[in-house]
Amino acid sequence: MNIFRIKKPFILTIFGASGDLAKLKIFPALYSLAEQNRFPKNFHIVGYARTEKKRGEFQKEFSDSIKKNYKGKIDEKLLKKLTEHVQYFSGKYDKIADFKKYRTFLAKLTKAKQAHIAYFSVPPFVFKDIISNLGETKTSENEDLRIVLEKPFGEDTKSARDLFHFVARYFHEDCVYLLDHYLGKNAVQSILHLRHSNRFLNLMMKGPEVANIQITAAEEVGVTNRVGYFDTVGTIKDMVQSHLLQILAFVTMSIPITENADAIHREKQNILSALKFIPSEKNIVIGQYESYKKEKDVPKDSKTETFAALRLFIDRESWYKVPIYIRTGKKLHEKHNYIVIELKKFGFQPKEEEPNRLIIELQPKEQINIRLLNKYGITEKAKTLTTTESIACVGDYCLPEHALLLLDVVRGRRANFLSFQEIISTWRITDNIINFIKKAKLKPQKYKDGSEGPESQNQLTKMQGFKWFDIH
Ligand code: BG6
Repeated sequence: MNIFRIKKPFILTIFGASGDLAKLKIFPALYSLAEQNRFPKNFHIVGYARTEKKRGEFQKEFSDSIKKNYKGKIDEKLLKKLTEHVQYFSGKYDKIADFKKYRTFLAKLTKAKQAHIAYFSVPPFVFKDIISNLGETKTSENEDLRIVLEKPFGEDTKSARDLFHFVARYFHEDCVYLLDHYLGKNAVQSILHLRHSNRFLNLMMKGPEVANIQITAAEEVGVTNRVGYFDTVGTIKDMVQSHLLQILAFVTMSIPITENADAIHREKQNILSALKFIPSEKNIVIGQYESYKKEKDVPKDSKTETFAALRLFIDRESWYKVPIYIRTGKKLHEKHNYIVIELKKFGFQPKEEEPNRLIIELQPKEQINIRLLNKYGITEKAKTLTTTESIACVGDYCLPEHALLLLDVVRGRRANFLSFQEIISTWRITDNIINFIKKAKLKPQKYKDGSEGPESQNQLTKMQGFKWFDIH
């Protein structure tokens, strides 16, 4: 199989090169690309951070974090070769003088015109400084600079809009790659392909055929060392606003004919802008795991939700009254992400007969199962959802999310990134939910660590005679 290799030289700058995201995800992702021999002969990886340090020190940090965080065997020789491409620049994020020096530094690295990727691996409050300084120091109006920003994009509709207006002052949206790492998951990318290439499946997934949709994202881990961030946002903003609404869009949107980014963004936006949360306690359950307040640095009176279950609707004729249930939480019994599409039954089918279900498991297994009824019971055989014949994989090894998405940025492909508009739409519905929680003074219900979350989540589905479909 032909695997995609980058042919043209490029520069990748990682702003926030001393931070956790860089060490945990981006550096190992770069190694995985090197491991699959995806890089050209000439390219530069530049770490930009505030601390002064020598290039050699940074190179050591770079390779140490790969050794620590790469999930696989390290080839020392290859790692050394990759590290030779690594440079370091120390500068402030808010000082234009430092950006001017940094531009000179880049110009010395290479004279040739080439794509320059600026990866923002910094906390969101630093975004604007870097954007304006990069914008002010453009080498020319048509410089090939690609900005990669990772979620969260703002904290509500207003701040997201404000951020995008700010970005648009300096850069055209086409140069901006808004990254949600869920869209780098092979299995998430497969949803649209599956619908596109299997007409019968897509016909089953149309609103009039569907009784309800359930999206579950369960995590075993708790808040880990991210209390400072997580306690101010909670699980609805952290997981639902982007990751899970994106999945919902892939399942329910009209499938575009082409894989063209604009077409995908347009159809996604169509569905996301029609999402509706009816403000009622019947449509939401929030929870907090028992030991949450005992975690280091969590305020003793924290009301932050670590679990949420929601009932949403899509305000479109084809999805009229079809409930969409979403649930997600931390410190649950397992790590498991899956979608269940429950199909309607014939009016004449006995009540106790199970409905057909289309089950798409995204993590840890990537598989699809159609539960059919035969004379003796339910057929259970699942099929693999992703294949190793995809752009992400060489043999059995598939690129991790950040690597696959970086490859897209280098190729100039924006289909697996988000558009300004769709983010505004997902914030609109998130704001509606959060405002309702505040207005109704909803308090998170306690649930046991390692459990399946608060019992009351079952009320949500029960109202319309459904139940959560748990996969064990
Ligand atoms: C991140 C959230 O975006 O996604 C985390 O901030 C969450 O809180 C993580 O744990 C889940 O990602 P994954 O890939 O492990 O499902």
